[in-house]
Amino acid sequence: MKVFVTQAQPEPSVSDLLREHEVVTGQAGLPFSELQNLVADADAILATPPVRISRELIENAPKLKIVANGAVGTDNIDLLACKERGIPVTNTPGVLTEATADLTWALILCVARKIRAAEAVARSGRWDGWKPTDFLGMSLSGKTLGIYGLGRIGSAVARRGEAFGMRIIGMTEADSRTVFERLLSESDVLSLHCPLTEKTRNRFSTAEFQRMKTGSILINTARGGVVDTGALIEALDSGRLSGAGLDVYPEEPRIDPRLLPREDVVLLPHIGSGTVEARLAMARTASSEIRRALAGEPVVNRVV
Ligand code: GLV
Repeated sequence: MKVFVTQAQPEPSVSDLLREHEVVTGQAGLPFSELQNLVADADAILATPPVRISRELIENAPKLKIVANGAVGTDNIDLLACKERGIPVTNTPGVLTEATADLTWALILCVARKIRAAEAVARSGRWDGWKPTDFLGMSLSGKTLGIYGLGRIGSAVARRGEAFGMRIIGMTEADSRTVFERLLSESDVLSLHCPLTEKTRNRFSTAEFQRMKTGSILINTARGGVVDTGALIEALDSGRLSGAGLDVYPEEPRIDPRLLPREDVVLLPHIGSGTVEARLAMARTASSEIRRALAGEPVVNRVV
């Protein structure tokens, strides 16, 4: 059967688990018509975050039996269109939790300790020596870490926070308005770990930033669409936020050019799950789901 893999995967994954099938591999940024041709006669799609699996693609793929996302967030896939056709969509929970929590902490530490600005000076050859007043960051011990989205990744970030001596406030989208208000007003570092849905799109905008603690830090390793970038920039300009660490953006790979020169923002190119171990496990999890579905067996990590 034909499997369309949207982007080349770390191996051994596809080449091993799907060796009995015809595998066609694409790449991000293909023109829609080309993508549509590749998907039209596919029995399975191994999807990835940058390639949108739209209703139009799904409706024009009559043989499609599964969309296995090689990621945990499934906002790149039209879930409703799949559900209507009874096509299972799977994701890769669990295998990228620790890698993403580590990366989140890399951002927290970089922003809290002004690593971007300090590293630039060290590297420039213009460092003129230790000063009591240089690059003063935020001590994390005793501060409050807010977690918006207390699922697997959010909980793993919280556990690390405890090791740093932080007080934790966590919430899920089901929690009350009161918990959300506490999260905004008490967090020194607020880290986002919710999926991108119609409910969470632009969840953090002007009104939310205005209720955050002065000098607090925002970290986003979830999805760019959860944060209103313009409002974030205003919050940084006004001093409401002292810094931000971003791994994700609303229209990747575009990064709002206003963010690029800022020293108070650390920008990464969506590498939350980017370890050898996690990315291989993601590729193998998605390949295994396709292998099962094409053999007529039940899938394991079904989203719809
Ligand atoms: C990566 O961004 C993922 O959702 O797994």
